[in-house]
Amino acid sequence: MRPDGDFWNTECGVGSLDLQVAAARAMAARGPDPLAVDPFAEIFLRAAGGEWAALLDHAAADNPLTDNDFGVFFQELQAARIHYFDHYLRDATNSGLRQVVIVAAGLDARAYRLSWPDDTVVYEVDRPAVLEFKQRAISGAGHKPRTERREVPVDPDGAWPPALRECGFDPRAGTAWLIEGLLPYLSTDSRARLFESVDALSASGSRIAADERGVAPPEVIAAAEAESGGGDWIRLIYSETHTEAATWFAARGWTSERIALLDYLARHGRLSAEPGAGPTAPRSLAGLITAVRP
Ligand SMILES: C[S@@+](CC[C@H](N)C(=O)[O-])C[C@H]1O[C@@H](n2cnc3c(N)ncnc32)[C@H](O)[C@@H]1O
Repeated sequence: MRPDGDFWNTECGVGSLDLQVAAARAMAARGPDPLAVDPFAEIFLRAAGGEWAALLDHAAADNPLTDNDFGVFFQELQAARIHYFDHYLRDATNSGLRQVVIVAAGLDARAYRLSWPDDTVVYEVDRPAVLEFKQRAISGAGHKPRTERREVPVDPDGAWPPALRECGFDPRAGTAWLIEGLLPYLSTDSRARLFESVDALSASGSRIAADERGVAPPEVIAAAEAESGGGDWIRLIYSETHTEAATWFAARGWTSERIALLDYLARHGRLSAEPGAGPTAPRSLAGLITAVRP
């Protein structure tokens, strides 16, 4: 179980997850026939240098991403997330939403990567060090956002709603919320606080999309993780029992749907729904959810 209040930045602890995820995206993009590609991922690895750049140059053999079982799975997972959440945001803006909030934006480059309708504002909530690193790397590579992008430099597990409003967020307008790669790293109390904030700030027509781990007995998850090949960072995941996001939002009147990650991959002809070697519990528990507030 992860201890509360542990220190981290982009280089260590949970902050290094940003680079690990970017690395998986970059490696997935180099694979044969990727499901989806984020060409910005490489920019972050080059900016970070050291072992991260070495991964791109096939010179970092001890990273879990080079593991044939876990590494391949984690790359497919990132490609699935790009695919699913890009489609979600396109549908959300097609439905008329012009306010997008990415909570724990990390190295999400969608404000730079996707095309957006006029007047869309993308808010990115994350710790100052993460947003500073991203901004430095991406502008250093000569890229500009493709719509208005506003940074909200506050801990995603902290008091970000007042800061979001100070940046111009309007709770009377509909919002497309994106919570990618965050929920597994939050305690049950933090998840509840986050969901309550989203619920309180969401006008009619708002949507949310997230990925999460389903509920399983903590000892099942812990045992599977111990053998997963995911390296130390996988121990940053909280294994507490929680209400699944789709269930939580449905109970508050949102219309929600959830698809198991493995089913999503199988639907798009990727990774067998029955992964070969290794433990299956964390994989088969992973899900992608979307909910709409009527
Ligand atoms: C795996 S990254 C995902 C970032 C981005 N959404 C993506 O998919 O690339 C996890 C992000 O969640 C944030 N995060 C993770 N655990 C957290 C925690 N317990 N409290 C606050 N923020 C956390 C970090 O700032 C980091 O940016």
